[in-house]
Amino acid sequence: MERASSRLGVIILAAGRGTRMRSERAKVLHTVAGKPFVLSVLDAALALAPDCVAVVVGHEAGEVERVCALHLAGRGTETPVVYPLQREQRGTGDAVRAAAPAFEGFAGDLLVLYGDVPALTPATLSALLAHHRRAGAALSLLTATFDDPSGYGRIRRRANGGIAGVVEERDLAAAERGTREVNPGIYCATAGFLLPALARLRTDNAQREYYLTDVVGMAVADGLPVATLPAANIEEIAGINSRKEMAGMEERVRRALVERWMQAGVTFRDPATAYLEEGVTIGADTEIGPNVQILGRTAIGRGCRIDGTALLRDAAIGDRVHLRLGVVMTDCRVGDDAVVGPFAHLRPGSELATGVHIGNFVETKNAHVGAGTKANHLTYLGDVEVGDHTNIGAGTITCNYDGFAKHRTVIGNRVQIGSDTQLVAPVTVADDAYVGAGTTVTSDVPAGHLALSRVPQRTVAGWVARKRAKAGDKPVQARPAATIAAARAAKAVPAGKGVAFAARAIGAAKAPLAKRKTVRPIARPPARVNSGPRGKR
Ligand code: UD1
Ligand code: MG
Repeated sequence: MERASSRLGVIILAAGRGTRMRSERAKVLHTVAGKPFVLSVLDAALALAPDCVAVVVGHEAGEVERVCALHLAGRGTETPVVYPLQREQRGTGDAVRAAAPAFEGFAGDLLVLYGDVPALTPATLSALLAHHRRAGAALSLLTATFDDPSGYGRIRRRANGGIAGVVEERDLAAAERGTREVNPGIYCATAGFLLPALARLRTDNAQREYYLTDVVGMAVADGLPVATLPAANIEEIAGINSRKEMAGMEERVRRALVERWMQAGVTFRDPATAYLEEGVTIGADTEIGPNVQILGRTAIGRGCRIDGTALLRDAAIGDRVHLRLGVVMTDCRVGDDAVVGPFAHLRPGSELATGVHIGNFVETKNAHVGAGTKANHLTYLGDVEVGDHTNIGAGTITCNYDGFAKHRTVIGNRVQIGSDTQLVAPVTVADDAYVGAGTTVTSDVPAGHLALSRVPQRTVAGWVARKRAKAGDKPVQARPAATIAAARAAKAVPAGKGVAFAARAIGAAKAPLAKRKTVRPIARPPARVNSGPRGKR
């Protein structure tokens, strides 16, 4: 029979330390597929639109509350969420007691959940709630039968099959040890029964704790209706107490996520090495190679190709994008038809427009790169604005940091930056400008101008022959094999090295210190800026 009051409160127990995790961090803040356990439980509860949620905090209370509050601020909810404090962790029953003041005068049903059940779904909770209300029970709980029930409290049944109570593993009598029916720890009770019952809990058990599970036996002893519901999906109700259990759960959740996206039209070449998190979205006809981690709020468009070995976190990737092997992206945006990699690193604030090419060994950070622009080789683009259809030559570096502050480089449209260019920020290279290879750009280059700061080349005729003669050396090809063998025999040369090495080593050792070459600082000639097209070019 449906009860008159359909008010619903939720209590989530998240105060425990989680000793079996052997961690400084509160257990409920450990993650499965990138999401802290307690947030999964919180989200499942909020999906039922309850009147109030109390998350009981204790160990690392401030941090647990902060993580929950931050998550709620991001997702938004109408439901008030409060954080009662359990000062000392004296058991699950004591934790519920800490939440009781938040429900003073509350006449409705209370779902009581543990914060260490990361795969819990709203469907399971509403099934239990509906069952509880239909049965008109004072207390209802899920049950499950596990092949390996170790770690769980067991359901004790009466001769007639009705529930008698829950016994913690450590308190099991020898005769009960074979019981495989467990208590998953998901309860629904009327506030009218539960809250007063908490006062009757005792610590006369193996762990000297106030067990919440004791209220089951109490309700039975009071002659109140107690309902049980076998869990529909036993994988989702597992409580995580150890790193091993966490790894097992991670594996199941990860597999389920990959399957969900396969059903949505995404190809995974090797599903076993694809690591996805819940907030990720992937468009149909995208193909994903082996060994990828797609994390956070990463959104990948349709028809993309990810060759493999990629770590993408909070990346927004358009349609038909090709990520070649070995790409790391964090907090960045990539437009349609872009090509990135192999071996590229897109750091936060990188925004690539349509059709951009970022090639091998290129790093970008806080870089806005315009449509059709290419930076294909060995380049650092940091704190930079690059226009459309510009070509950034191999080995270009934006020198953005002077040891005190970061400075911006602005590069216009249709610009040609020659190979091995350094752009010493703040500096601007305007539209249609050229920068010659090997230039250090230290002042602005106006539109259509050429900037060049090359040291003029000197070509010295006959230099090599003179040098060799001076060193008493002969051309390499004329050297007989016997010379090499003799040098090796004299142990002057490590195996695998040639005579030139030996000669150099000997020469260096012989040369008096004063005669050795010293490196003189070379004055950097200022960049010369040629004005734009003048007559014929
Ligand atoms: C509990 C149940 C057990 C059940 C299992 C299901 C009890 C006594 N036992 O055991 O029957 O089979 O869950 O997973 O309830 N917590 C507090 N304050 C405390 C102690 C715990 O807030 O003083 C919180 C923890 O943070 C955790 C949850 O309660 O989120 C459960 O505690 P845990 O120690 O994991 O209980 P189990 O031993 O797993
Ligand atoms: Mg547990």
